[in-house]
Amino acid sequence: MLHSRKNMGWVSMAMALGMSWLLSMVRPVTGIGANWGTQASHPLPPETVVRMLRENGFQKVKLFDADYDTLSALGKSGIEVMVGIPNDMLASLASSSKAAEKWVSKNVSTHISSNNVNIRYVAVGNEPFLQTYNGSFLRTTFPALQNIQSALIKAGHGNQVKVTVPLNADVYSSSSGLPSGGDFRSDIHDLMLQIVQFLSYYGAPFTVNIYPFISLYSDPSFPVEYAFFDGKATPLNDAGTNYYNMFDANHDTLVWALQKNGFGNMPIIIGEIGWPTDGDENANLNYAQRFNQGFMSHILSGKGTPMRAGPVDAYLFSLIDEDKKSIDPGHFERHWGIFTFDGLPKYQLNLGSANSGSLVPAKNVKYLARMWCVLKPSANLEDTQVGDSVSYACGLADCTSLGYGTSCSNLDARGNVSYAFNSYFQTNDQADEACKFSNLGTITKIDPSTGSCRFEIMIELPLSASTIPGGLSLLILAIILSLLTVL
Ligand SMILES: *[C@@H]1O[C@H](CO)[C@@H](O)[C@H](O)[C@H]1NC(C)=O
Ligand SMILES: *[C@@H]1O[C@H](CO)[C@@H](O)[C@H](O)[C@H]1NC(C)=O
Ligand SMILES: *[C@@H]1O[C@H](CO)[C@@H](O)[C@H](O)[C@H]1NC(C)=O
Repeated sequence: MLHSRKNMGWVSMAMALGMSWLLSMVRPVTGIGANWGTQASHPLPPETVVRMLRENGFQKVKLFDADYDTLSALGKSGIEVMVGIPNDMLASLASSSKAAEKWVSKNVSTHISSNNVNIRYVAVGNEPFLQTYNGSFLRTTFPALQNIQSALIKAGHGNQVKVTVPLNADVYSSSSGLPSGGDFRSDIHDLMLQIVQFLSYYGAPFTVNIYPFISLYSDPSFPVEYAFFDGKATPLNDAGTNYYNMFDANHDTLVWALQKNGFGNMPIIIGEIGWPTDGDENANLNYAQRFNQGFMSHILSGKGTPMRAGPVDAYLFSLIDEDKKSIDPGHFERHWGIFTFDGLPKYQLNLGSANSGSLVPAKNVKYLARMWCVLKPSANLEDTQVGDSVSYACGLADCTSLGYGTSCSNLDARGNVSYAFNSYFQTNDQADEACKFSNLGTITKIDPSTGSCRFEIMIELPLSASTIPGGLSLLILAIILSLLTVL
């Protein structure tokens, strides 16, 4: 299965190893990165986001796919890019080296050569070994990784672009509950070793996503202070080494797992780390600010973790909220951004970059008109249509800011209905018919937002999307014209 190794002579192999060693020496681990996801009904234009990244001093960005417009906007920005391959593409890339070559040609080579995009990593899959996937990607991830690596070498990117697999932290665990007991999960131990060996051979990093929030969310008895970085938790004592926060302990469990299997020096990237701001009682501005600032200060200190001194290479999750993400994991899923969907900073955050202290908002954001859809004052809450309308609206739009412990938990029953109506109305670009709801809805120019609860106004869709109807009619016109000419 190791196509590339089979085809490589001893000398070129040694050279590749030497080169990757050299590169790892000259490639400084710079600054903080951000995850840029695009599962939104109204995403900001890519150019706007790239400007935001630059003005906030992000030097690296991690993408979940290879969207053409996104990558184009990153051209010449100098920002280092980790471009992602979604899990649903793993099977085809695993079974065909031609498919992998096409993927690299279209989604890496084109952008590097014609547009100077600084692509540094290809992330093969996204948390493919999550236990909730029932092993669906166990057989395809490693072969896809191998095929992409071979394709990168073949295209001449072997030195500049490294492969990696962003993994969930549940690929390892500790039998003792202490970092020193760390090893790879027993059901995938052999597979993990093969992957780690492969990454190590090509000078590629191990990428892991670490989420203290999820630990707190899924275990009510989790010690809250241990999620944060203020040193207020009762430390975990690992043979004399004290762990005051979950990040360090989790990170070092991985270091121990790698060390135990002979890869103690493998570079580690924190692919995702962050805290959501809504949709759960522990997902709020206070905790998110505390966690993200605590993490930033922790890594800016340059101390590293007890087992791994030095800089930490990390990508915050996430840059912007995404209102189309699946809420299977929980309602918080749509609120990971340090910025709202329209590019407004949610809280103070010092990233240690040029703009110390305050995040810089997105520029020139184009909003729809200042109007909202609400429940008619004359409508009767007992009307059986109310419940049906709310379910319909929430099913197709976003009501994750409603409910216990959320930003809109202060709304009364009528406020709840209005929130749902408005969300649907905005998601549908304020179309008149999106505020009907069996004659229960009405449009208002008075902002219904109260306190922490924001009734959003959507932004204009990026040009490429909103010009499609115009483009179509032009096409139809052209067809009619050419028919006329023929006649
Ligand atoms: C390039 O990436 C995009 C987005 O992930 C994907 O849809 C497309 O199929 C890829 N191209 C090839 C040739 O695989
Ligand atoms: C995994 O298996 C469980 C139980 O059999 C099932 O409910 C779930 O839908 C499966 N998930 C996937 C992603 O296949
Ligand atoms: C508002 O909606 C939320 C979520 O559906 C619900 O939990 C809450 O009880 C509602 N509040 C009122 C006052 O109806």
